[in-house]
Amino acid sequence: MKISLIVAHDNNRAIGKDGDLPWHLPNDLKWFKKHTVQKMVVMGRKTYIGLKFQPLPKRINVVMTKNESAHFQGAVIAKNLLEVLQIASAKGIEELMITGGGQIYSLFLPLADRLYITKVNTEIDGADAYFPEFKEKEWNEVFSDAHAKDDKHAFDFTFHIYERPIR
Ligand SMILES: NC(=O)c1ccc[n+]([C@@H]2O[C@H](COP(=O)([O-])OP(=O)(O)OC[C@H]3O[C@@H](n4cnc5c(N)ncnc54)[C@H](OP(=O)(O)O)[C@@H]3O)[C@@H](O)[C@H]2O)c1
Repeated sequence: MKISLIVAHDNNRAIGKDGDLPWHLPNDLKWFKKHTVQKMVVMGRKTYIGLKFQPLPKRINVVMTKNESAHFQGAVIAKNLLEVLQIASAKGIEELMITGGGQIYSLFLPLADRLYITKVNTEIDGADAYFPEFKEKEWNEVFSDAHAKDDKHAFDFTFHIYERPIR
């Protein structure tokens, strides 16, 4: 099973503010959908409760929480990293998509094989969630596609895919 992280972050690796995304970038939402549908998505409890639509449709939603009695309609609960891996392997998942937020990216980055990173060319004031630092030089960039801001996108942004060299 391949483990992938998918994120959009700003020039300081900020990903969130007040429980929500700090921007509205429709083409990034399309990119996210394209790379997550028909897969298993794993997110932290804070990201899940911030979703406009729960669960994310056409995906197996796994929500991580340490709360033993938590229940989220339409989602599978996992209480730790091992449980996530057990759920995914029991379902024969080929690519496990880690969809945030900051705590969950930090947890899975050491295990990740692939990173889908949208770099948003801005610096968000008052951000309160961040993507962890990672050593870009240790990864191979296999895809990059830059987009200029326009009337629907307030910032320039670039899609990147990185793969970890075979360990
Ligand atoms: N830009 C992006 O691409 C992107 C993507 C996703 C999210 N976000 C943003 O990120 C922000 C949320 O990120 P966050 O870091 O504050 O929270 P988060 O990672 O979404 O969720 C944190 C919660 O996950 C649970 N958790 C964490 N580690 C765990 C572990 N080892 N085992 C079991 N459960 C664990 C805990 O839930 P309990 O407290 O219930 O135990 C914890 O409070 C939001 O603003 C969201 O919009 C941005």
